[in-house]
Amino acid sequence: MNFNKYGYFKNQQAKSPLDLIQYDFSTEEQLVVPGDWNTQKKEFFFYEGSIWYKKDFTYQKKEDTRLYLYFGAANYEANVFLNGEHLGSHIGGFTPFNYDITDKVKEGNNFVVVRVNNKLKPDDVPTSNTDWWNYGGITRDVLLVETPSVSVDDYLVQLEKGRYDRIQGFVKLNTRQAGVKIKLEIPELKVKAQLTTDTEGKADFHIKSTPKCWSPESPQLYDVIITNGTEQIKDRIGFRQIETKGKNILLNGKKVFFRGICIHEEAPYRQGRVHSREEAEILLKWAKELNCNFVRLAHYPHSEHMVRAAEEMGLMVWDEIPVYWTIAFGNKETYQNASQQLIDMMERDKNRCAVVVWSLANETPESEDRNTFLANLSKQAKQMDNTRLISMAMEVGGTRDNVTSIQDGMNKYVDIISFNNYLGWYGGRIDDCKTRKWNIPYDKPVFISEWGGGALQGYHADKNTRWSEEFLAELYRQSIAMYDRLEGFAGMSPWILVDFRSARRQHHTYQNFFNRKGLISENGIKKQAFYVLRDFYAKKKMEYEQ
Ligand code: GCU
Repeated sequence: MNFNKYGYFKNQQAKSPLDLIQYDFSTEEQLVVPGDWNTQKKEFFFYEGSIWYKKDFTYQKKEDTRLYLYFGAANYEANVFLNGEHLGSHIGGFTPFNYDITDKVKEGNNFVVVRVNNKLKPDDVPTSNTDWWNYGGITRDVLLVETPSVSVDDYLVQLEKGRYDRIQGFVKLNTRQAGVKIKLEIPELKVKAQLTTDTEGKADFHIKSTPKCWSPESPQLYDVIITNGTEQIKDRIGFRQIETKGKNILLNGKKVFFRGICIHEEAPYRQGRVHSREEAEILLKWAKELNCNFVRLAHYPHSEHMVRAAEEMGLMVWDEIPVYWTIAFGNKETYQNASQQLIDMMERDKNRCAVVVWSLANETPESEDRNTFLANLSKQAKQMDNTRLISMAMEVGGTRDNVTSIQDGMNKYVDIISFNNYLGWYGGRIDDCKTRKWNIPYDKPVFISEWGGGALQGYHADKNTRWSEEFLAELYRQSIAMYDRLEGFAGMSPWILVDFRSARRQHHTYQNFFNRKGLISENGIKKQAFYVLRDFYAKKKMEYEQ
């Protein structure tokens, strides 16, 4: 970026009658943060490009204190300036970032300027080719965070892989200071560990303790308190095991079926990006009404509010990076970008026991470049965290003699075989579900990461009339019956909980810039198919709880 001397980032005001300043933040429109700009002003509804934000704040410096400027997310590229100085830029619309401004913040008046650009390019992650609304802006919380100069920078607290009687993890300081005493407490488990940091400023721990395991039926969380001198960090953490054994998924050693649904991070009723805990809870309550125990947060990391609410409400989570469709798989910067977004997602959610699947991609066309790209991402994910399942939503292979094959070079890298299939909507007829056979040659659990069809809520006709609620209900009945016959069928997340905005969906009567595959309309009204899935999951729940 070239920052010319009159740039917006300087937040200048004309000082003399001759000054040429062609902007004035003090008289500009106001935008609410957090929040996308598309839903705040009708002129911004389709806008893709840059918008500059400015925020004043006063600060009183303190001894032995560091100050950080934290962003929950900004879509897609953010450049952040403090008092006219460029702090840095961040790429990726759905992951957090922060800057240490201890030595840059002034006593008294300061101003932050942020340029956000939501225009997506062919080398970006994702590209401009998506089936969701490209909401731009500072879409999640912005915080000023004070810590002691020597502070806890990171921590992990979880069950040791494969055991139920040992809690392990680490606490890490922001400096390589050895010999610092840190206390780790889990009061309800009578755990009180005295840790001492090593020369890296890190303290690993293994503690004998047998917590009550977290599960959707009993989402048990414990207060975890980390004390570093005067600094105290509190988190609510759950403990569980997730693994596969042949074609079974085991949660805490017991066979489990993922009764899932896909969710986009679009606010109920008003649309726009979800940014509050309340909105996240409305979406997840609808998932609970469906008798879900699992949500696929498509197609990018949702806000922490969503993940934490799912954990407290007893919903397992599929966490995904937006390596979506036609990514530039041969471009090394694109790989670096995807790799960084994967790191940021896994770092942010590593203490969230509800997250059971890291997903690396969605419906990516097979090629040598794509296979290399995804194989490297899956190795990176496994190296970072071998306690969760790795997967990606594949495309289905070809169909011959009424047999559909799942053949994808990536299936050797994933723990569960996941694929998207739209038989009866994109190709074929609903009745084909009655005779369709599947060839899935892997000794791994099978998860249908997407299937479904469109219906305009309130439009009624016979079950052979596309867009009618009756058509969608019939598609759900036949699809469910077909998948329930699959060997190794371990779960599914139909597409999708709620109708959502997409510029690709332009039929003026049935779509009107909405993708209509939701089981609930954008106004929160349930379609007939909602009850078909709800009843199937009620049966599945009984089957697995006996
Ligand atoms: C694809 C894709 C979704 C999309 C859906 C659809 O499977 O993964 O992002 O919205 O199909 O076509 O509705």
